[in-house]
Amino acid sequence: MALDKGSLTVSIAGIRLRHPIMNASGFLGYTREHISRLAKYGFSAIVTKTITPYAKKGYDPPIVVALRNGGLLNAVGLENPGKRCIGELVDEARKLGVPLIVSIGGMNAEEFAEVAIEAEEKGATAVEINLSCPHAKGFGLEIGLNPVNVFNVVKTVASVTKLPIIAKLGSSDRVVEAAGKALEAGAKGLTLINTIKAMAIDVYTLKPILTNIFGGLSGPPIHPIAVRVVYEVFMEYKPDIIGCGGVTTWLDAAELIAAGAKAVQIGTALVLSDNAQSLVESILRGLENWLLLHGFKNIEEAVGSAHKV
Ligand SMILES: Cc1cc2nc3c(=O)[nH]c(=O)nc-3n(C[C@H](O)[C@H](O)[C@H](O)COP(=O)(O)O)c2cc1C
Repeated sequence: MALDKGSLTVSIAGIRLRHPIMNASGFLGYTREHISRLAKYGFSAIVTKTITPYAKKGYDPPIVVALRNGGLLNAVGLENPGKRCIGELVDEARKLGVPLIVSIGGMNAEEFAEVAIEAEEKGATAVEINLSCPHAKGFGLEIGLNPVNVFNVVKTVASVTKLPIIAKLGSSDRVVEAAGKALEAGAKGLTLINTIKAMAIDVYTLKPILTNIFGGLSGPPIHPIAVRVVYEVFMEYKPDIIGCGGVTTWLDAAELIAAGAKAVQIGTALVLSDNAQSLVESILRGLENWLLLHGFKNIEEAVGSAHKV
């Protein structure tokens, strides 16, 4: 059986993408040069670093540590130039013909809305609401752990923009409930998952390694958690899901798609790989072979396939 022409094309939150692989927020994505580098890597859409209304300074170094188990631990602290950078990012992405998803952050619903308004005014394709950063005080997970807050933030953002809204949630005991609230409030898609709160200690100095003490764990160690969250949320609502967490090969991407994701983001693997462009290329070729192996004609047929057996 042959694949459909455009077998990797997917439509997520109403956005048509030539294939399902995009970068995860926080990996480049806040300067014009970053956008151009990410486009060269071959991503079908580019997600910006989380942008807050005003420039935000991050934590003092060390802010990122490579762990023995293959993961990364980071506490960057949502450092970003503020919403004034959105115009040039959109401009660059448009020049290169790549959809731009602006990741938005804030300390309350009104701040999220402020960045969403700017994203729409400047011509972004969609917004991804970061409700899940585990280490920036007052931001992210401190809001996203409570499904009522998730509802309020998404609802407020939906009231000020017509852009498709994607809510990015982290793993928590109430993630399925939070996902339901995000969808009820108007999210057209969900990104699952963000990093997981963790820490590392230097046993020689007996001190936490990160200045912030706690950070977010990413990379291969969190992949099975991402698969579980995508599977559970898909089972409940069958929404458009962008799977994220520990994807380093096509196998990881295929696993998230089989669990229910329509698209997949790659973060830590970009740091660990010495050739991001061939990484993206090899994931796409691997996915095509995987579709053929199962007799799927396109990616959309493979979405959630692990629920059907
Ligand atoms: C250094 C670093 C910075 C990050 N910055 C952001 C960010 O600004 N906004 C966000 O939503 N997620 C951020 N993340 C989380 C990633 O987007 C992603 O959800 C997480 O790393 C899991 O994917 P991965 O295992 O492929 O890295 C960051 C992660 C890392 C390691």
